[in-house]
Amino acid sequence: MSRKRVLVVGGTGYLGQHVLQGFSDIKRHTQFDLAFTHFSVPPPQVLLDALPHLLAFNVDLKTGRGFQAISDSFGQPDIVVNCAALSVPRACEVDPPAAMSINVPSSVVKWLSSFRVNSTLLIHLSTDQVYEGVKSFYKEEDVAIPVNVYGKSKIAAEKFISENCSNFAILRSSIIFGPQTISPVPKSLPTDLGSLQWMQWMDGVLSKGNTVDFFHDEFRCPVYVKDVVSTILALSEKRISDGKKMQLLLNVGGPDRVSRVQMAETVADLRGYNKSLIKSVSASSVDRGVKSPTDISMDITKLVQTLGISPISYRDGVRLTLASEAN
Ligand SMILES: NC(=O)c1ccc[n+]([C@@H]2O[C@H](COP(=O)([O-])OP(=O)(O)OC[C@H]3O[C@@H](n4cnc5c(N)ncnc54)[C@H](OP(=O)(O)O)[C@@H]3O)[C@@H](O)[C@H]2O)c1
Repeated sequence: MSRKRVLVVGGTGYLGQHVLQGFSDIKRHTQFDLAFTHFSVPPPQVLLDALPHLLAFNVDLKTGRGFQAISDSFGQPDIVVNCAALSVPRACEVDPPAAMSINVPSSVVKWLSSFRVNSTLLIHLSTDQVYEGVKSFYKEEDVAIPVNVYGKSKIAAEKFISENCSNFAILRSSIIFGPQTISPVPKSLPTDLGSLQWMQWMDGVLSKGNTVDFFHDEFRCPVYVKDVVSTILALSEKRISDGKKMQLLLNVGGPDRVSRVQMAETVADLRGYNKSLIKSVSASSVDRGVKSPTDISMDITKLVQTLGISPISYRDGVRLTLASEAN
């Protein structure tokens, strides 16, 4: 089989690093040449040491600066996984132009259309926050009415890709959790509504014996990071094996609809922490500087049927995450 080129845009972020690791782990079976982009930070040395076959490129999605260097030395990728984003909703809320120019990947799509044969599969990360949050278990065909700038920029990205790209898979991911990355990404507080390592954050505060507020009325379908990676790998294998173009929109969530209180209770239960530390409050009692959809739980039937992927339960994902922390 000829070697395939995979480019992970935003390879320094939480999901990007896990995706690079996932492709590296199956390298023995399929021959992948792997490259990634970084933006505000130099390529982390610890990542390059752990995965020494990686090529790194500095790219700014706002302007498209850096893509030409990829064409020159790596060539046209067979697969691009776009994990780059302004991913913290509050940051999007304070700077809508930045959110739109980074989260709508017009520079990626323009670059891909510059190749003579436009055959690259673009796997793009979207979010459950495209949904309004007024019912349970959204399906892909339900109308998407985002309530914040982050969600609006992500739905604009989906529209742009479906109108300007002929070979794509858009993954509407729920909140992602799992082990730390090879090069640790910064922790963010849940009040940022960013989700970087919120599992580790919950574990940390509860282990100190602090009482913490958690929302009882905000619902998500948290997805274990390795299930998101498996989805991306399955799409890539599909593209490579049948060579057909795709235009796919998939919800990617875990099987369980849980409130933030239930998320914390599971951590407390598995760790043996006192559950009375978990104070149940309403999301409406806190001003987080950005609107947050109430219930964006998702129906993942299409994911299961299309790719045969069955994400693990929230509890099993927490167990694996906590076990990885012990190593
Ligand atoms: N994590 C979740 O729970 C979750 C849930 C739903 C959807 N998603 C989506 O999944 C994707 C990955 O999320 P994540 O949590 O892994 O994000 P992340 O850790 O915040 O990583 C963001 C990445 O985007 C890059 N980036 C930021 N601005 C850029 C620019 N102007 N040009 C080029 N690259 C830029 C960053 O590069 P540098 O660090 O090098 O600057 C970094 O690699 C995003 O699309 C996010 O919206 C995530």
